[in-house]
Amino acid sequence: MKLRRLIARLLRRAVQAMRIAYYRLISDNQPLRDHVRLLQPLFCTGRGRIVLKQCNIGVQPSPHLWDGYCHIEAREASASVHIDPDVWLNNRATLIAERSSIRIERGCLIGPGVQIFDSDFHGLEPATRRSGQQECAAVHLQENVFVGASAIILKGVTVGRNSVVASGAVVTRDVPSDCIVAGSPARTIRRFIAVEGPLSVEVSSHR
Ligand SMILES: CC(C)(COP(=O)(O)OP(=O)(O)OC[C@H]1O[C@@H](n2cnc3c(N)ncnc32)[C@H](O)[C@@H]1OP(=O)(O)O)[C@@H](O)C(=O)NCCC(=O)NCCS
Repeated sequence: MKLRRLIARLLRRAVQAMRIAYYRLISDNQPLRDHVRLLQPLFCTGRGRIVLKQCNIGVQPSPHLWDGYCHIEAREASASVHIDPDVWLNNRATLIAERSSIRIERGCLIGPGVQIFDSDFHGLEPATRRSGQQECAAVHLQENVFVGASAIILKGVTVGRNSVVASGAVVTRDVPSDCIVAGSPARTIRRFIAVEGPLSVEVSSHR
C-alpha cells in the first residue's frame, strides 16, 4: 500500500512536470517572472506584457490540477497582465487582457475556473460584431480580494480591497472594498466592518 502511494506520488510529479514544461514550450509569450510557484501548467500568449511576481499558479488539493491549465493572455501589444506577490491562482483560471490591462494585487485568492476579461471580444451591434474594434477597459483586483469558484469578472471592473466575489458571480460593475457580492449581475449581499490601516498580508515563502 505504501509502495503504491509512493509510485502514485512520483508518477503525478513526473507527469505534471512534463505537462508544465510542455505548456511553457508552446507558450508564445514568455512573461517576466520572479519566483513563480507553478503547480499546474501555465499557457501564456499574446504580444503584450505579462508580469508574474512571487505568485502561485495551481492549487493542490483542488479539482482539475492534473487535467487543466491556467491561461494568461495579453493579446495585443498594448495589453498587460500583472500579478503581485502572494496571489494564488487556482486551477483553470483564465485571464485575458485584449488591449487594456488586468492587475491583481498582493494577497488575492482566485478560485478554480475563474475568468477575468478586459473586453467583450466582439462588438455588440450586429454590424460591428466582427470589427475587432470593441472597447476594452482595465480590470483591477485590489489587495486581498477573494474570488470564488467559476466567477466571471468583466471589463472595466475594480474589486475593492478585502472584498469577496461569491462562487458563480458575474461581476459587471465596480465592487466596493470590504463586502461580499454574489449573483448575476453581482450585487452586494454583506459588508465587513472596514479594516483600518495597512493590511498585513504575509508573503508566503515558497522558494
Ligand atoms: C458568498 C459566500 C462567501 C457566502 O457568504 P455569506 O455571507 O456567508 O452568505 P450566506 O450563505 O449567509 O448567504 C447570504 C445570501 O447570499 C446568497 N448566496 C450565497 N452564496 C451565493 C452565491 N455563490 N451565489 C448567489 N447567491 C449566493 C444566499 O443564498 C443568501 O441569500 P438569501 O439572503 O436570499 O437567503 C459563499 O457562498 C461563496 O460563494 N463562497 C465561495 C466559495 C468558493 O468558491 N471557494 C473557492 C475555493 S478555493
